[in-house]
Amino acid sequence: MSSLENLLAAAGPDVPSRPRRNRKSAAIRSMVRETRLDAGQLIYPIFLHADAGDVPIASMPGQTRWSLQGLVAEVRRVATLGIDKVVLFPKIDESLKSEMGEEAANDDGLIPQAIRAIKDACPDTCIVTDVALDPYNCDGHDGIVSSEGVILNDETIEVLCAQAACHARAGADIVAPSDMMDGRVGAIRTQLDAEGHTDVSIMAYTAKYASAFYGPFRGALDSAPKASGSKPIPADKSTYQMDPANVREALRELELDEGEGADIVMVKPAGPYLDVIRALREQTSLPVAAYQVSGEYLMIKSAAQAGWLDERAVVLETLLGIRRAGADIILTYFAPQVAEWLNG
Ligand code: PBG
Repeated sequence: MSSLENLLAAAGPDVPSRPRRNRKSAAIRSMVRETRLDAGQLIYPIFLHADAGDVPIASMPGQTRWSLQGLVAEVRRVATLGIDKVVLFPKIDESLKSEMGEEAANDDGLIPQAIRAIKDACPDTCIVTDVALDPYNCDGHDGIVSSEGVILNDETIEVLCAQAACHARAGADIVAPSDMMDGRVGAIRTQLDAEGHTDVSIMAYTAKYASAFYGPFRGALDSAPKASGSKPIPADKSTYQMDPANVREALRELELDEGEGADIVMVKPAGPYLDVIRALREQTSLPVAAYQVSGEYLMIKSAAQAGWLDERAVVLETLLGIRRAGADIILTYFAPQVAEWLNG
């Protein structure tokens, strides 16, 4: 007899508990699965510019900087897949950038135009807009930079309120302040309400970390901090975005954003910050969102393109992990692709 047959002939060991029984078939695994992914939980970040052409983004293979026309077609395409929430990121012409970022609140600017065009074509698609000054600021920071190189908090909030109100007038459903200035959620809520936009929601970037994973995004929008004149420009965003070492501080930000009227709170990046997602989930009854950012996208995409990772399996596993940690909502560049996989 072979050794396998010997083994099989012997009496079975006394194993008191057998978790493998719940894994024995696809039918049972699907029944006991604790976490699921659904296209309805995904928000698709989209890049746009004022130019006429649709341009592939070198730093983010598979992503495009859309013209207004291309953007509308893309939003229509993904809606048919079940992706009915998008967040818009504009690349603003260099000539429109300024120290104060006034273009951010121009009612005829790129974002208001895009909101109106999408609402015309796909009225059921929920439009989320980014509220921050970095695409509009010649210094590449999310806030106004003083002549001493300090990112000014309260002065920035005034422009952010004007920007949020401008998006609301154009028809945005959710505004998402990503700037990390103190007190901006409450100020934006007050401004929106004062203008009658009580139905416009705020998705707060509650725990946004000063992360190296945003690199490809800044390449996509040409929005990295840079010196334009003689004033000193901080090279990173660490005086307003959070220190990657901290989690208790995220709970303090949560308490503030909840108190100021946030409707949804967000953690960003997602994959390297699963413990932060879990901490927020345990502390709040609000929906928690997580943003799988450009660097997380690029790591998977480039490894898959080299043939080193199975893209579909890895993407679904990362998103499931983010959901398991406690995120209700995920912002991901993979959204349309995931919807196709889930539908297929
Ligand atoms: C800027 C903003 C950034 C991202 C979203 N909004 C970049 C930054 O804070 O420097 C990053 C998104 C990504 O990396 O995918 N307000």
